[in-house]
Amino acid sequence: MSAPLRVGFVGYGYWGPNILRNLERLATVDVVAACDANPDNRAKLASAYPHIALTDDLEQLLTGYRLDAVVVATSAPTHAALAARVLEAGLHCFVEKPLTLSSADAAHLVKLAEDNDRILMVGHLMVYHGAIEWIRDYIDSGELGEVRYLYFQRLNLGKVRADENSFWSLAPHDVSVALYLLGETPDRVSANGADYLRDGVHDVVFANLHFPSGRLANIHVSWLDPHKTRRMTVVGSKKMLVFDDMEATDKIWIYDKGVEPADAMAYGEDLTLRFGDIRVPFVKLSEPLGAEMSHFVECCRTGTTPRSSGADGLRVVQVLEAVDASLASGGAPVTIETE
Ligand SMILES: NC(=O)c1ccc[n+]([C@@H]2O[C@H](COP(=O)([O-])OP(=O)(O)OC[C@H]3O[C@@H](n4cnc5c(N)ncnc54)[C@H](O)[C@@H]3O)[C@@H](O)[C@H]2O)c1
Repeated sequence: MSAPLRVGFVGYGYWGPNILRNLERLATVDVVAACDANPDNRAKLASAYPHIALTDDLEQLLTGYRLDAVVVATSAPTHAALAARVLEAGLHCFVEKPLTLSSADAAHLVKLAEDNDRILMVGHLMVYHGAIEWIRDYIDSGELGEVRYLYFQRLNLGKVRADENSFWSLAPHDVSVALYLLGETPDRVSANGADYLRDGVHDVVFANLHFPSGRLANIHVSWLDPHKTRRMTVVGSKKMLVFDDMEATDKIWIYDKGVEPADAMAYGEDLTLRFGDIRVPFVKLSEPLGAEMSHFVECCRTGTTPRSSGADGLRVVQVLEAVDASLASGGAPVTIETE
């Protein structure tokens, strides 16, 4: 067995502890050093993981510990600069979502990773969720028929952020899943929203994504909703499917329902509604974050392109940017130019 991957960790705030806990479980990883600008968060890290060396200086982290890779879990506005330094230092890099706050910065990171022959992976966590993998296989099997449209609801009361709007904070998950399931990038988006809580920071957004195949996705995100909701509905030509991530175990519901042309004998009707069985398949689930970290380590060790690569991160940022442009113009359609 080869030596464990020597990993450095940056950003032990709200989300970082979950990532570090999962990295520490992997036998293929040695988290040797960590960095956080905040002394309170460094103290928390020191008390939970006394064996990990600590610094407040990224340059020391990058040069002082013979690292192979760095995991960046800092707040979104810092991603572009920190990830660029990691890649320029010749290290593999995992960056939490969203990859950056502009597509120009994301494209720069993708190029840096290519030029330095390093792995760049973005934390699109949901594409490592066992239920999403199951749904993708189910769609590929043809059982659902042609996917016609899908819609997402990611709602809650809080956590209200000041440095990014609700779409940048919540929707990278849904945008990445839509792109992953449909295998294409939207060519046009339009969005409406409102900033009830903080001037200029949208806390509620309704976005429509149009894909080159003609398929549609709608994403509704909110920090101002009475129910915590994490739900996706996929309507196919043969069946319909609901994924409810708030359910503990029965997360996927398949409805054998549809609308079909009436048979030749029917009189006065040209469409028939079909109501069939509802099935709740057994899906083996593990913590998506564990699968995500394990995938990152595997990609670093083998040179495989990650399922959520820098290029995927760039595509998602392009959609987020287009949604912002549409919000700014009061809901006008915005075209997305991809390569
Ligand atoms: N995948 C998910 O489900 C999920 C959930 C929550 C957050 N996130 C993502 O995780 C990232 C972090 O979010 P958070 O809520 O934990 O943010 P946070 O503000 O709570 O924590 C960020 C931490 O990074 C540190 N930091 C910031 N700039 C730094 C720098 N230049 N050098 C060293 N340390 C620095 C801060 O001191 C802080 O401890 C964001 O990208 C967010 O979108 C992902």
